[in-house]
Amino acid sequence: MRTTSGDDTPGIDAPGASARPGLESLTRDLGLLYGGDYNPEQWTSDVWREDVALMREAGVNLVTVGVFAWAQLEPRPGEHDFTWLDEVLDLLHAGGIAVDLATPTASPPPWLGLRWPETRAVTPDGVRLSHGSRNHFCPSSPVYREHALAIAGALVERYAAHPAVRMWHIGNEYGQVCSCDLCGAAFQDWLRLRYGTVAELNRAWGTTFWGQRYDDWAEVVPPRAAPYLLNPTQVLDHRRFASDQLLSLFTEQRDLVRRAAPGVPVTTNFLGFHHPTDYWRWAPQVDVVADDAYPDPAAPESPVLAALSHDLMRSLAGGRPWMLMEQAAGAINWRTHNVPKSTARMRLDSLRAVARGADGSCFFQWRASAFGAERFHSALVPHAGPDTRLHRAVRAHGAELRRLAPVVGTSVPARTAVVFDWSSWWAAEERARPSDRLDVMAQLQAYYRPLWRAGIPVDVVHPAADLSGYDLVVAPQLHLVEDDAATNLRGVVERGGVLLIGPFSGVVDRDAHVRLGRSPVPFADLIGASGEEFCPLPAAGAPIVSDEIWDFVGTVWGERLRLDDGEAVATFTGADLEGCPAIVRRRHRSGGQAWYVATVPPQQVLDEVVRQCVLAAGVRPAVESLPDGLEAVRRGPVLFLLNPTPDERTIALPGVHHDLLTRTDVTDRVHLAPEGVVALIERTS
Ligand code: GLA
Ligand code: ZN
Repeated sequence: MRTTSGDDTPGIDAPGASARPGLESLTRDLGLLYGGDYNPEQWTSDVWREDVALMREAGVNLVTVGVFAWAQLEPRPGEHDFTWLDEVLDLLHAGGIAVDLATPTASPPPWLGLRWPETRAVTPDGVRLSHGSRNHFCPSSPVYREHALAIAGALVERYAAHPAVRMWHIGNEYGQVCSCDLCGAAFQDWLRLRYGTVAELNRAWGTTFWGQRYDDWAEVVPPRAAPYLLNPTQVLDHRRFASDQLLSLFTEQRDLVRRAAPGVPVTTNFLGFHHPTDYWRWAPQVDVVADDAYPDPAAPESPVLAALSHDLMRSLAGGRPWMLMEQAAGAINWRTHNVPKSTARMRLDSLRAVARGADGSCFFQWRASAFGAERFHSALVPHAGPDTRLHRAVRAHGAELRRLAPVVGTSVPARTAVVFDWSSWWAAEERARPSDRLDVMAQLQAYYRPLWRAGIPVDVVHPAADLSGYDLVVAPQLHLVEDDAATNLRGVVERGGVLLIGPFSGVVDRDAHVRLGRSPVPFADLIGASGEEFCPLPAAGAPIVSDEIWDFVGTVWGERLRLDDGEAVATFTGADLEGCPAIVRRRHRSGGQAWYVATVPPQQVLDEVVRQCVLAAGVRPAVESLPDGLEAVRRGPVLFLLNPTPDERTIALPGVHHDLLTRTDVTDRVHLAPEGVVALIERTS
């Protein structure tokens, strides 16, 4: 069985290594991609005909077919039924709709798990999962993999040359984790590649603690139900392994497709900041970076995470176009209370992705299911049919996407980077830590929010990425940092840039061992301060004084820092941390600055810190003085202004601009309706 080595450098290259066809192989003739998941197996053939007609009227040009159709395609082991898919693909092609054809391997048929129980995943508590839902497979089971490759191979053989098939979609939202013995053996193989010897494993895992010493690879198990805290490096390595193991499932199917259809891009759908999968390692393996995004329309802050996730996707794609593979047109069905999107919000969310580099905006799904677990999930064609507010909006949106041709293939240049790393995320979430109230994703959004609000373009970067193109680098909570990454980050300041580091950063090394010395060990001299104790704060927080900003109360987190040769921007006062710097800055001879924030300040204080870093770095927003709550992004020749608020907004914009969406000109001032968007091109005359 194939496993991916855990030993090589995380994937920080661009995807597809250039020679591979990418999204441009579709957008070249199709323009911006618009459509969604299409599950014809849930419908009779007369509906298929109506679907194609409706798709054409809506401007749909791409549908993803067959994601969950394994049981229809292979009703009994080795017995295939492709007749219905033949007809569907021919109908779509005749209608001019391109197909992203899926290998259906996310949901094996019941017969697979019944005949071969070992193909079903096992939870850490030892429960073997059943069929009846989806994604119940074990990623390491040779029988599962053999059958998955067989059905994928049969599809590829039959459809590689079908003119409708313009992209291949492997599996769906990879994220399964399994604790069975087969996965245990694969974990041992992965560890052997990473460490070479059991002695080295023992060193990395620190097994002299609690007598965990291993004498043989065969003794090593995945994290399973145990009496008390698990070994943190074992847990961390298992997360790394689990991501790599899923990636190997993807790549083995991808290679099968590539051999048969070398000119067609192969993708799978990512899930934003998806905990189980390290997309820095995945991105170089896909021809097209594709994402699924389901921002909650009921959460006022959800546009921030949506924007950040889109920036992550564009960055994973090396700055090249990516595509939004799935989003909801209205309500979803899997939160506890599912507020539908307004039609304006549907359009806004879709255009946000385009503004942030997507060359496709697709949905889950085309036609709302009448049965099954997702029957209350919205779709482009609702249960009530096309004569609905939602479907009229779908058509209008399809038409306006055609008008955005000037952005196709363009990027969003950024001089600011936010650092994010999956290993660090995983390590920071180790159960036995100083505080579970310091949350990696919350910190990430808190530091990103002021950049988003100011309309400053941001890339998301791996800590070992080439940072030479950035004037401002923000590492909100880089808990685990490898030696070369620390050197890389220091380089930002040495080159004259600004580095802003958040709390509990630089604490552990690649093995999750605490770095010995005054914290943050790899950055202490850089920031001009050094610490000796992490001090989670009582519920009331701790008072902090600042001449430069204003006095405030820090919450959640403190650190016993001592000022060395830096400047205290803010200082704890009273109680146990009296006199310890809470925010520190060191100006360097290079002209660069290093900042460290040793608490969780109120958002407004953090906004001010970020504003000062922005000023010092000289990075520019897409437009000056963006009114609060609006989003601004420049992509290629187009300035997108988005209004996620429920209120009408006006922004001053000198000169004459043409809104591609409404095909009207605006002079000096732009009015944005609630949840409105404009896509402006400057008029030269
Ligand atoms: C995910 C899946 C889809 C569907 C949607 C529902 O993104 O990929 O199959 O379940 O969620 O929101
Ligand atoms: Zn397993």
